[in-house]
Amino acid sequence: PPEELDRRIRSAKDLLGERLVILGHFYQRDEVVQYADYVGDSFQLAGAAKARTNAEAIVFCGVHFMAETADLLSSPDQAVILPNLAAGCSMADMADIDQVEECWEELTALYGSEPDADGRVPVIPVTYMNSSAALKGFCGRNGGIVCTSSNAQTVLEWAFERGQRVLFFPDQHLGRNTAKAMGVPVEAMPLWNPNRALGGNDERAIEDARVILWHGFCSVHRRFTVDQIDRARAAHPGVRVIVHPECPMPVVDAADESGSTDYITKAIAAAPDGSTFAIGTEINLVQRLAAQYPQHTIFCLDDVICPCSTMYRIHPGYLAWVLDELVAGRVVNRITVGDDVAVPSRVALERMLAARP
Ligand code: 13P
Ligand code: SF4
Repeated sequence: PPEELDRRIRSAKDLLGERLVILGHFYQRDEVVQYADYVGDSFQLAGAAKARTNAEAIVFCGVHFMAETADLLSSPDQAVILPNLAAGCSMADMADIDQVEECWEELTALYGSEPDADGRVPVIPVTYMNSSAALKGFCGRNGGIVCTSSNAQTVLEWAFERGQRVLFFPDQHLGRNTAKAMGVPVEAMPLWNPNRALGGNDERAIEDARVILWHGFCSVHRRFTVDQIDRARAAHPGVRVIVHPECPMPVVDAADESGSTDYITKAIAAAPDGSTFAIGTEINLVQRLAAQYPQHTIFCLDDVICPCSTMYRIHPGYLAWVLDELVAGRVVNRITVGDDVAVPSRVALERMLAARP
């Protein structure tokens, strides 16, 4: 029963005190968020994991790649725990290290590896935070960097200072939307499809590319459409439409603004009372914002409910279990990244944390 879980979680938190920190992503359900010491977007949570040096256990209520990142950034004696190991991310699973290595080999054969007269190498790899540690490690080993949806433009600027072009994975939409906003023509952004059986890659377009986009996407954000935006505008004249940059380009173009979960949260917090917002992102965050700001009208663009099913796999029951185990002196569901991957991954993450607009 929920009351029993609540009692177990609160008493474990009391017993463990400063030895425990619970991090919660904005997309977590309210029943979980209520126990988080820190709630934020993936960039902020990466920073929080790095800063909480005195906690022995970091319980990460989010998805697998976020817990891996917390392990990379925390100290070796801190245990990062993912309450349910089945909480993955379908987008992160769309690029694996063998496919990326194969793509890199082909691009190296095409472009060579010599820098141009300005010292810029042929290609800089950029991975979205939503990727396995192996891909972050790949970027660290090959002069590349990690980005999140809140710093993608800053990171692409960093990459274009050092490279003639960018290989961006796994999310084609974040890559395309960000590069387009920076003035890169869409024609200069061919798709790299690792599964050639699905259509192959246009070698000519890839020769002229500025940004090569991996064929990945988020199954939640892909659902938003221009039609939904048109209907929201017709029903609510003056509505402010804000969507996450993982949405397809026509949706981002039709919205008033696009930004990370933190951007959306701050935009709503700063708006004058009585504002109306149509939001294109995960439903748990939108519903929480609607409850938190009753002075505004806030609704999700997708009225058929749009949850991230893997974020939802973190249930208070799993949280109670991992905390009970900690109280008993046992660490379960620990996420660790081996040194061979961790060392180069940290290089790519530290480049991101150091990159400034
Ligand atoms: P943020 O980087 O905005 O937290 O988003 C993470 C994510 O998984 C979006 O789908
Ligand atoms: Fe992955 Fe999309 Fe869920 Fe974010 S919302 S964790 S990108 S599946």
